[in-house]
Amino acid sequence: FSLYQTMPNPDPERLPVVYEEWEKRAREVLEDGPFYYVAGGAGGESTMQANLQAFNRWKIVPRMLREVDDRDLTVELFGDTYDSPLMHAPIGVQSIIHPDGELASARASAEMGVPYITSSASTKPMEEIAKAMGDAPKWFQLYWNKDQDVTASFVKRAEASGYSAIVVTLDTPMMAWREYDLKNVYLPFLIGEGVGNYFTDPAFCSKLSKSPKVDPASAIMHWAKTFGNPGLTWDDIAFLRKHTRLPILLKGILHPDDAKLALDHGVDGVIVSNHGGRQVDGALGALEALPQVCDVIQDRIPVLMDSGIRRGADVIKALALGAKAVLVGRPCMYGLAAAGERGVKEVLQNMMADMDITMALAGERSVSGLDKSVLRESK
Ligand code: FNR
Repeated sequence: FSLYQTMPNPDPERLPVVYEEWEKRAREVLEDGPFYYVAGGAGGESTMQANLQAFNRWKIVPRMLREVDDRDLTVELFGDTYDSPLMHAPIGVQSIIHPDGELASARASAEMGVPYITSSASTKPMEEIAKAMGDAPKWFQLYWNKDQDVTASFVKRAEASGYSAIVVTLDTPMMAWREYDLKNVYLPFLIGEGVGNYFTDPAFCSKLSKSPKVDPASAIMHWAKTFGNPGLTWDDIAFLRKHTRLPILLKGILHPDDAKLALDHGVDGVIVSNHGGRQVDGALGALEALPQVCDVIQDRIPVLMDSGIRRGADVIKALALGAKAVLVGRPCMYGLAAAGERGVKEVLQNMMADMDITMALAGERSVSGLDKSVLRESK
């Protein structure tokens, strides 16, 4: 309620509360290239729209007189207890959004007790990000490199620097058709920036004839050639299992048959996601895919979700449909653009407060107790 208390005397430096105003601030401070890299999607952006529309199809049906004064936002995943069901989605190349880049986002997440998922395509090495977070919860997101030595090395480094889970993003074996990035000729610049983990990797550097410091252009060429691995199959999951003792989550699952394959291949969790509508144009909204995936998984492993989470009610709906936790993407990046670490913290804090208040007003006391009974599907 501190927000309400400051209202009669607004601070001119106060950051936005309204989601759309965060996006507007980001638009004001960013050039076209970085802004559309964040705000844009694949093709005609119909998947991006579907992500948002999917939330409107479900309505919360609030219950009354349910003793909601004492609430519990905590969730348990892989034996760890987290303060809330919010996570910071893996996002690459953040130094184009703010000079502090991933370090600002990671610190803000740590302050809020929100697990930060470090992207393979970070501008800073994963060790530096981990160090900035101290003991706060952190996971590592893997882009599976064509060179298996690099893939194995990333996983080993993540374990050594204190990450507690590996999120393998499956929906990006190559960059999608992103019209704004092509129009703004932004891709080459992105590739040059998102190499923080690669240029510091011993396996990656051992394949170059000269170190990235001496010959960055050749190193970037090698990165571009080996990034993404469209030849992967389900059998490759065993390779990863052999190289890590950490829980493995597959990000980008939308089809119930893939959920079944994930179970068959012994992974520890799945993340229902369409990459924020940035990969397949014309795909179904992530929230639409969630119930069917949960039906297949039947609580045997945790199902997480992202793509379209903008406000507290969205979190409540995703959890009620079976997600254990949700990842927040673009809202954090608009916060980062507008006000660096302070902006990301404010975005996360607001979303947490909104989620807590909405849950209470819906008549629910704990996030782990949310289920479909709080929702109705509007036809
Ligand atoms: C992403 N996303 C992403 N995912 C991933 O696994 N590795 C990555 O490096 C990135 N990079 C990235 C950059 C930017 C600018 C965005 C917006 C997104 C996808 C991200 O993790 C998440 O799936 C989406 O952001 C969720 O959708 P919303 O919340 O942004 O709509």
